[in-house]
Amino acid sequence: PNTILTDTLGRTHNYLRISLTEKCNLRCTYCMPSEGVQLTPRQHLMNADEVYEIAKVFVANGVDKIRLTGGEPLVRKDFKAILKRLSSLKTTLSITTNGILVDRFIDDFKTYGLKNINVSLDTLDAEKFNHITRRNQFSKAYENIHLLIENGFKVKLNIVLIKGFNDNEIIDFIALTKALPISIRFIEFMPFDGNNWNKSKLVTQQDILEQTTNHFGAKNLIKLKNENNFTSRDYKIFGHKGEFGIISSVSNPFCDGCNRIRLTANGKVKNCLFSNNETDILTALRNQEYIEDVIAKAIYKKLPKRGGMNSFEQLNDPKQHSNNRSMITIGG
Ligand code: GTP
Ligand code: 5AD
Ligand code: SF4
Repeated sequence: PNTILTDTLGRTHNYLRISLTEKCNLRCTYCMPSEGVQLTPRQHLMNADEVYEIAKVFVANGVDKIRLTGGEPLVRKDFKAILKRLSSLKTTLSITTNGILVDRFIDDFKTYGLKNINVSLDTLDAEKFNHITRRNQFSKAYENIHLLIENGFKVKLNIVLIKGFNDNEIIDFIALTKALPISIRFIEFMPFDGNNWNKSKLVTQQDILEQTTNHFGAKNLIKLKNENNFTSRDYKIFGHKGEFGIISSVSNPFCDGCNRIRLTANGKVKNCLFSNNETDILTALRNQEYIEDVIAKAIYKKLPKRGGMNSFEQLNDPKQHSNNRSMITIGG
């Protein structure tokens, strides 16, 4: 197997990110425009059977890691049914969620072997949380993160850093790793349609490492070995239980080792987070075509770096962003 999942640069795509829905119960400013996004009509979204059928073909061809994303994956009414079906495949299951609905699914996660849970939480300040998410749910998110930890899940916290907004919380977040066995990941703010990105809002890998070194001291900052096909470069503070990492897609991309392929809620194979190259697999499935061909075609067209956005000038160009989707319909 796995030949159709290998691209022209020899990168093998064993990690499938499936977006289950375009909807979300929060409204994060870096993820969606204030007016919202045009939602795909229901009949053009994958149903639970279709998610399973497509995932099965990916797994048969070498995918061994599936991450469920959204929107917010847990708002999908048939989430449990989808999880149950996917749990019969030979692959690890993980999810990226905003945490708000997590308490309702603890037992399902356990029953169906979903252990890796990444939770987005951009601030430890309730008022700032309301501002960035445009919703009033900080305590729920925060309590649910603790609930996951208490229940033994492998938890990573995702923090999108925005200059002048939450970059003064970097040390507070790392301080959480002193007693908690979690991984904190600081993410460089990335440009997508409708999120008003510009370079001046960017907090870079270098900024983060400088703050960290100044606060904890260089000798207490331990560089860890990168995970295979990493997104995050990981570190640990000497004596802390947990770790922290930096996801630097903008200042220091990691595309050489990219093993990720995406399936959008409306059934398109998207070959890169930043690329508008999408191949319609749902229609092919409904027409009973050979969907391996669709996957092969998507992989074949994958570009070396950031979907072809090679320079800072291109990252800065709004025309490039409007070619792509809003983050909410990609799922990260
Ligand atoms: P792990 O499986 O735990 O390593 O998680 P992950 O980093 O693959 O996924 P997650 O959904 O937690 O995403 C965290 C951040 O990494 C988000 O901002 C994503 O947009 C970003 N990210 C995930 N995959 C990719 C990728 O393939 N390329 C880039 N540039 N960023 C990615
Ligand atoms: N830049 C960086 N990360 C983002 N995410 C959403 N939008 C952006 C963006 N513009 C992150 C969320 C979530 C993950 C799936 O993607 O924080 O944790
Ligand atoms: Fe892969 Fe595209 Fe992300 Fe680079 S930007 S790591 S090629 S998905």
